[in-house]
Amino acid sequence: MATTKTTAATKKTATKKTTTTAKTATQKVAAKQSDEKKKILFVASESTPFIATGGLAEVIGSLSKALAATGKYDVRVVIPLYSDIKKEYREQFTYLGNLYVHLAWRNQYCGIFSYVKDGVTFYFIDNEFYFKRPGCYGYYDDGERFAFFSRSVLEIMPFLNFYPDVMHCHDWQAALAAIYLKTNYCFREEYQYIRALFTIHNIEYQGQYSLDLLGDLFDIYGSYQYLVEYNNSINLMKGAIEVCERFSTVSPRYAEEIKDPYYAHGLDPIIRKNEFKLTGILNGIDDVSYNCALDSHLFANFTPDNFANKAVCKKELQKMLGLPEKPDTPIISMVSRLVSHKGLDLVTAVIEDLLQDDVQVVILGTGDSHFEGYFRDLAYRYPDKLSANIVFNGDLSRKIYSGSDIFLMPSKSEPCGLSQMIACRYGTVPIVRETGGLYDSIKPLENGYTFSNYNAHDMLYVIREACSDYKNKKEWSKLMYRAATTDFSWSHSAKDYEALYLDMLK
Ligand code: GLC
Repeated sequence: MATTKTTAATKKTATKKTTTTAKTATQKVAAKQSDEKKKILFVASESTPFIATGGLAEVIGSLSKALAATGKYDVRVVIPLYSDIKKEYREQFTYLGNLYVHLAWRNQYCGIFSYVKDGVTFYFIDNEFYFKRPGCYGYYDDGERFAFFSRSVLEIMPFLNFYPDVMHCHDWQAALAAIYLKTNYCFREEYQYIRALFTIHNIEYQGQYSLDLLGDLFDIYGSYQYLVEYNNSINLMKGAIEVCERFSTVSPRYAEEIKDPYYAHGLDPIIRKNEFKLTGILNGIDDVSYNCALDSHLFANFTPDNFANKAVCKKELQKMLGLPEKPDTPIISMVSRLVSHKGLDLVTAVIEDLLQDDVQVVILGTGDSHFEGYFRDLAYRYPDKLSANIVFNGDLSRKIYSGSDIFLMPSKSEPCGLSQMIACRYGTVPIVRETGGLYDSIKPLENGYTFSNYNAHDMLYVIREACSDYKNKKEWSKLMYRAATTDFSWSHSAKDYEALYLDMLK
């Protein structure tokens, strides 16, 4: 605390002095640049490299870095200080101080830690009662935990003397930060110009609670009730959509899809009502981290111009997973949460037909127990054809992305999806269903295969088409090249976010 205050105080004195004495040209330029830097605060429940349970964390970590790299933004990120945050990082965090956060009748300790990485300042909200538990979510009091987190985000602003131009909230866990800002805090002078952007990474998880909890847990009363009330319960995502200046989703196609009841999990009337402030921006991936030439997790490195070592990756993968070492048999892989909306209903419907062909199938992921059991059983029955790895393992995922030939992602819905892009980067050709970000990122024959209906036999047909094309080595390596060289970096999407921020700040 002392450090921040002193720095802020020193800055004030410095500013006074320089205004009274003549500024040098360099000082002027520096002052102008720092004045011009727009302040962006990401509010999210996870971020790489500290803690990750899914694609959200990758986007928070890599988009913030890409924006900071433009030199035009002061980008900061705030997440909870979970006990699972990697020790190697935790040990390097700086303790800034603490304060107490009020929420309804509660008055809770809030410690603040910080860490600077790749030009981005990360803040971590510490409260052991809420966050000293394994994992990030899935507790009976998640509503209370993220209400505390969201409230803390607003409370630490005076402490840090940092009021962002745009507070960019991600998913339901950060929805209350936007709601509290626009209902309570915006009446205070320092908060009145903060614009709120809310990004939906997955509309399936909305933060729904019983209306009884409105005052006791969320500290929302009276005339604000209508903002978060939906279908006779509290819906935090709905509240954020209503209050924010703009909201977005992680692909243009998904922005269209969620206007439709098939994709919206009940929120389509709210999306249509607020359509005028909705944008879809396709995620990028961290192309430094996912680089087949440099990735140290791979058995061997290769480049899009020379895929020779990809054969080594394949051979070693087969060896490691106990599959016969057959260089000409296509390996079809899935790295996915094992849940129904990832298209596993389609896979389970036809996989035994597919296993009659000359193919090998590799599965990696955890999820619903019936899918986990199903794939374990299948691996037992087809030991030479299928390897089921029911774990969450980043190292193995990269070995699978690089060592397989075809990547299957037949999602029923997919807000963006990062795996299809990662597979491409390793020269592994994706087969996707045309939905959300899969539709926006994979184009038939350009960099992969697609099918449109959520139908198991349509999928099987396309898989067989790809396996047959795979035999034509010359054409296949051209396809691999096109997949591996598709530009999935943040360069385009970060520009789209910049345009959106600037538009909001007009
Ligand atoms: C969610 C979505 C996924 C998206 C990711 C990052 O996990 O389900 O499609 O890629 O968020 O935005």
